[in-house]
Amino acid sequence: MTDRYAVIGNPVAHSESPWIHARFARATGQDIEYLRIEAPRDGFAPALQEFRAAGGRGANVTLPFKEEALRRCASLSTRARAAGTANTLRFDEGGIWGDNTDGAGLMRDLVVNLGRRIAGARVLLAGAGGAAQGVLGALLEAGVARIVIANRTVARAVALAARHPGAPLAACGYGELAGESFDLVINATSAGLEGAALPLPAGVFARGALAYDMVYGRHTPFLAAARAAGAAAHDGSGMLVEQAAESFLAWRGVRPDTAPVLAELRAA
Ligand code: ATR
Repeated sequence: MTDRYAVIGNPVAHSESPWIHARFARATGQDIEYLRIEAPRDGFAPALQEFRAAGGRGANVTLPFKEEALRRCASLSTRARAAGTANTLRFDEGGIWGDNTDGAGLMRDLVVNLGRRIAGARVLLAGAGGAAQGVLGALLEAGVARIVIANRTVARAVALAARHPGAPLAACGYGELAGESFDLVINATSAGLEGAALPLPAGVFARGALAYDMVYGRHTPFLAAARAAGAAAHDGSGMLVEQAAESFLAWRGVRPDTAPVLAELRAA
């Protein structure tokens, strides 16, 4: 019987994951089926249970269920525990194993695909929600010089920084960024989904800076502002494909080649 996987979220209609995993499966000769499951907002656990009972082998989890997914796991990878959220579940004999591949996906896109050196970089992380929380650990592990977490609601940035005591972290509001500049500016807010800009002061982009919007497939005001300031600007397509490849590896033990899939996604 073909092994089944799924992305569980709400909404999931526009998820690219089934398409990406179908490409990976074809390229690696793996016989899998990958579905979309839209769970009711208060119905993640039953949907997961139903899929598992029907022979599911694992799942990707997307908004708004990544925190709840973590709580349903019998065991966790170190990076899922650090992030406090799970986007990848594997249904093992001993129970559900949870992982978070978002941070690794971002790092692979930055380092391998975009050829950036992250060690020693001054980083501005805009946003303090689940998306920011999911990648903060990986950025710190990469040996950045310093990360400033800026958020509209400052208390959330402070709370996120407090999860990593002793790390080279600061938390603030956007207004307090005046006079600072960064080599890497990551937009982990959902502002771009509403077409909203971030109130970043002029000068946050250092010479040669990279601006990265974790939102994909959109020309966000953040990316437009970064380009206007002379920064190299990239959307989150690469992270999307790379986090999927990490999930595929966790499930199938094979790392798919991401380059052709990313090229095809961009062309589409
Ligand atoms: P996610 O899991 O995508 O991170 P979230 O936890 O709801 O979702 O967090 C959304 C993030 O985008 C938050 O940092 C939010 O700022 P607040 O904490 O102040 O709400 C940020 N955000 C959303 N819309 C924004 C906007 N128009 N301007 C600035 N920040 C915005």
